Amino acid sequence: MHDRDLTGDDVAKRRTPGTDPQEAITCPVSVTPSRKMESLDAGLCAALEDAGCPVGASIRDRLAFETLLTELSSRFVNIPANRVDSQIEWGMRLVVEQLGIDRCGFGEVLGDGKQFVVTHSYQLPTVPSCFGLILQEQFPAYARMIRQGMIIRLPEDLPADAVTERQYLLQSGLRSSLTIPLTVMGSVVGALGLASFRTQLAWPDELVKRLRLVGDIFTNALARKRADEALCAKELSLRQSQEGLRQLTARLLQAQEQERRRIAREMHDDWTQRLASLGIEAAKLERHLGTQEVALPLLHAMQQQLVALSEDVHALSRQLHPSILDDLGLVEALRSECAAFARREEIEVDYCPGVLPETVPADVALCLYRVAQEALRNVAKHAAAAEVIVTLDVVESEVVMRIEDFGIGFDRENERSQPGLGLSSMAERVALIEGQFSVTTAVGRGTSVDVHAPLKGCPR
Ligand SMILES: Nc1ncnc2c1ncn2[C@@H]1O[C@H](COP(=O)(O)OP(=O)(O)O)[C@@H](O)[C@H]1O
Ligand SMILES: [Mg+2]
Repeated sequence: MHDRDLTGDDVAKRRTPGTDPQEAITCPVSVTPSRKMESLDAGLCAALEDAGCPVGASIRDRLAFETLLTELSSRFVNIPANRVDSQIEWGMRLVVEQLGIDRCGFGEVLGDGKQFVVTHSYQLPTVPSCFGLILQEQFPAYARMIRQGMIIRLPEDLPADAVTERQYLLQSGLRSSLTIPLTVMGSVVGALGLASFRTQLAWPDELVKRLRLVGDIFTNALARKRADEALCAKELSLRQSQEGLRQLTARLLQAQEQERRRIAREMHDDWTQRLASLGIEAAKLERHLGTQEVALPLLHAMQQQLVALSEDVHALSRQLHPSILDDLGLVEALRSECAAFARREEIEVDYCPGVLPETVPADVALCLYRVAQEALRNVAKHAAAAEVIVTLDVVESEVVMRIEDFGIGFDRENERSQPGLGLSSMAERVALIEGQFSVTTAVGRGTSVDVHAPLKGCPR
């Protein structure tokens, strides 16, 4: 009977004045009942009718309503948040059809309880729709009663001072309505409203009890939807702030690299040149002085210091920006870095490069170079290792780099609680080129730093 319009006869049959109120609202079976309920309903009613029992219709109505409740409960158990609204409207339609009424609405009490917003409603086509917003100033008595959690049967329950409410009943032609406030943890959060424009109805307590269950089903589903939406919003804002943080890190790293590059260029092009010419001047001076001159050894020492200083500045400039990366590529830049590290730290480095594409993207090369620098620094600083192996190769479409030492290792959990800047900046750099970074270590078992960097269609 989903789409069957009610006829006057139907209504009259269902609302015989003077009869038991539970008999007065007789519900045609309008839901799609579960097969079990349907056969129970039909079987029971047939048996009662055969026996000439006068309460047959009442029992049938109650069974039909139980079926509706079962149907609603099972539908609402696990519906996703985006289907809650449509399912509530579907549920309201069932209620309207089941009870043979004209309109069903569901609303929420807002903030201070002075506003009542109708969020969902279903009405027969010929019937006016619900107010979108019901304000306390508009219907003070009605709003007060909802706030107090009172069940409101109109027009019976209207107090003497409910002037505007009475006017509304007259103007709209509303003959009968029931409002059931819905509470969550003792406070009224909303209300379920049912309306009849054609007939004055009795709303028996038994029916109110069941309708409250319907309202509770709607309220719970909406609460779940809100929680879901709040969670989604939180997740979104978390993702956005993570993304913001990532962009900021990227900009910081970029700015840092640019600054390093500038200083390195300055050191290389200016300082090392000036130091070199000072060295030449010192050599000239040495030649001008006689061999007996006492200042000679001093001058010689000064000249050697100048050479050493020039080498240091050169090395520092390369640390700051590895121009060797641009000139000779990643494989040679790492070879030179490993050699310099072995000399400086007196730790044996076994460097094993594979065959890499002609051009590794500059950001990937710089990232791998920086990670290798920091990983080697950590070996020197923390590992107490005598040997380190650096491997660099291409596996499928990724450059894979590993820096493995056989030193003391460390406890990652401990380190996670007090993270250093080196490990996190390595991880951050690798994330920025969309690669994978991992550190495998255990106390006494050495440490291995692994990077997988995507090559993104680079020709081999
Ligand atoms: N190769 C390694 N061998 C042993 N311990 C290491 C190694 N690399 C890192 N660690 C441990 O991890 C910690 C964090 O390293 P890192 O983030 O680079 O910070 P920092 O080097 O400034 O201490 C180090 O303090 C050290 O305890
Ligand atoms: Mg470090």
